[in-house]
Amino acid sequence: MQFKDLFPQDVYETVRERFELLARDTTTSFESSIITRYGLSIDVSISAGIFSSAGRDQYIGIFRDITEQKKSEELIRENIRLKNDFISNVSHELRTPLFSILGFSSTLLNDWDNIDEDTLREFLGIIHSESKRLSSLIENVLTISRIDSGKVAYKKELTSPGAIVAEVCRNLSIRAKEKKLELQLDLCPSPPDIDADPDAMKQAVINIVGNALKFTPSGGNVHVGLSKKNNHVQITVRDTGLGIPEKDIDHIFEKFYRVERPEHEIEGTGLGLPIVREIIEEHDGCISVESRENEGTTFTITLPAASATKEREP
Ligand SMILES: Nc1ncnc2c1ncn2[C@@H]1O[C@H](COP(=O)(O)OP(=O)(O)OP(=O)(O)O)[C@@H](O)[C@H]1O
Ligand SMILES: [Mg+2]
Repeated sequence: MQFKDLFPQDVYETVRERFELLARDTTTSFESSIITRYGLSIDVSISAGIFSSAGRDQYIGIFRDITEQKKSEELIRENIRLKNDFISNVSHELRTPLFSILGFSSTLLNDWDNIDEDTLREFLGIIHSESKRLSSLIENVLTISRIDSGKVAYKKELTSPGAIVAEVCRNLSIRAKEKKLELQLDLCPSPPDIDADPDAMKQAVINIVGNALKFTPSGGNVHVGLSKKNNHVQITVRDTGLGIPEKDIDHIFEKFYRVERPEHEIEGTGLGLPIVREIIEEHDGCISVESRENEGTTFTITLPAASATKEREP
């Protein structure tokens, strides 16, 4: 193998120039990629020197494999990029309700005497709902960053999935009634227990049923089902709502992703589903979605049944 064959064609010229510029009794260090004798391309750090020995110039090169180091550096760069994207997304999302609160509250402060009672109520209503939005955004951001940094310790125990979905439906039934939506619950007889953190699981189901209620116009229907399948339980949430366009469906689990719906002003931060996915995957389960625009959406959560040997704690 010749020196030239070590380097990919486009790199060789640069390396050759570096070696040619090398003055006698000096050294140089640089990074390059080389091709191993097995044809693999690896990253190396090269320290090279030229020395005279017995009247002849001799090159010495020390090659150190830094492929793994490069991969780690790339991973760190990618993480920094994601973190920066996250911060800029959060700041952007925080700004909107915050500006609204600032604007309306300063109008109230400056113009209190000239504002009639109806306007006063309207402005206070806006301040209140924007504050609620801000608070749920902060909650979601804290949850997702706790999950991302691996700080969430799930307290798994034998849990009844029927009790979870029933409680979520009970809690959300007021929201459904207010919006004139039918919320149906359909539990199979004696579903197996799951090994789950009840609070986290409740949060996941709330997010999915909450979405179904949010994205289904009045008069529609939301059906929550629990069934058993082999050694698994399945929670399905089916709605007759707006549906998700095909181009968006692969992205809805990404942080801050929201389907653009200029004709409907629907609040949200785009963190609900990423949180659900994290929770479900941490419980060795999976989540899938099927949807048709303007017809409806079905989310299916599949979780392993707790092993038969596990006993419910007293
Ligand atoms: N049942 C559904 N029907 C139609 N679209 C949905 C449904 N569930 C989710 N989506 C779409 O997926 C997007 C992402 O959902 P996600 O729950 O992450 O965010 P969000 O509900 O907009 O905000 P957040 O949950 O953070 O308040 C939503 O903005 C919506 O466009
Ligand atoms: Mg949501």
